[in-house]
Amino acid sequence: MSFNVAIDGPAGAGKSTIAKAVAKKLNLIYVDTGAMYRAMALYMLREQVPLLDTERIIEKCSQADITIRYENGIQVVQLNGENVNEFLRTEEVGKAASVISPIPEVRRKLVELQKTLAAHTDCIMDGRDIGTCVLPNAGLKIFLTASSEVRARRRYDELAAKGMEEDLQKIKADIEERDYRDMHREQSPLKQAEDAVLVDTSHMSADEVISIISQMCENGMQAFHGIKTFREI
Ligand code: DC
Repeated sequence: MSFNVAIDGPAGAGKSTIAKAVAKKLNLIYVDTGAMYRAMALYMLREQVPLLDTERIIEKCSQADITIRYENGIQVVQLNGENVNEFLRTEEVGKAASVISPIPEVRRKLVELQKTLAAHTDCIMDGRDIGTCVLPNAGLKIFLTASSEVRARRRYDELAAKGMEEDLQKIKADIEERDYRDMHREQSPLKQAEDAVLVDTSHMSADEVISIISQMCENGMQAFHGIKTFREI
């Protein structure tokens, strides 16, 4: 049996930054499920499948073989054998992932992959439905959020640091649109699991969040495995 941590929350809440850092600190595998939906979206964009043509997407999704491997602790997403990591983090792919992710056939395929990964290894998995659907028995569930103003500002700063000038209000509107889509879809909508701990990072630094969540994970791991964690050994 493995110890799993589920982190859910809206786009831009800092899930991947936090999960990655905590995973490294505690020697857990980090599973980024958004990247899997992004890989599926990339496949549809490359195949020029209209994103609103659900039937074609269902037909095509069986031809997209998405697998995960780890290289020096970094998750590598393979699409039909190709490492596609460098193509996944664009706004276009993110938006397309949000549009196709409600399709049950897409979800079924990726959720199966996620469950298999978690069954075999202690991991931190982040996404939208991890605590509610993918890992309902996770040892620790966290719902990580922040106000849309704060999330838009973080995204703005991130783009500015790369020399990209974007309109803050437009970023905020995009984030709110994505939240709405992710929270109101019929299939596995984004919502806090009843037994998840709510962490609002609006007024916290990344280091503070990493420290709090690491502590929760350590306590959870200790209780689960009944052994001392690596720091105490
Ligand atoms: O976390 P992200 O921005 O990489 O996710 C991209 C999209 O994928 C997101 O808008 C909704 C979808 N997604 C999902 O439906 N379920 C998940 N577990 C993870 C992501």
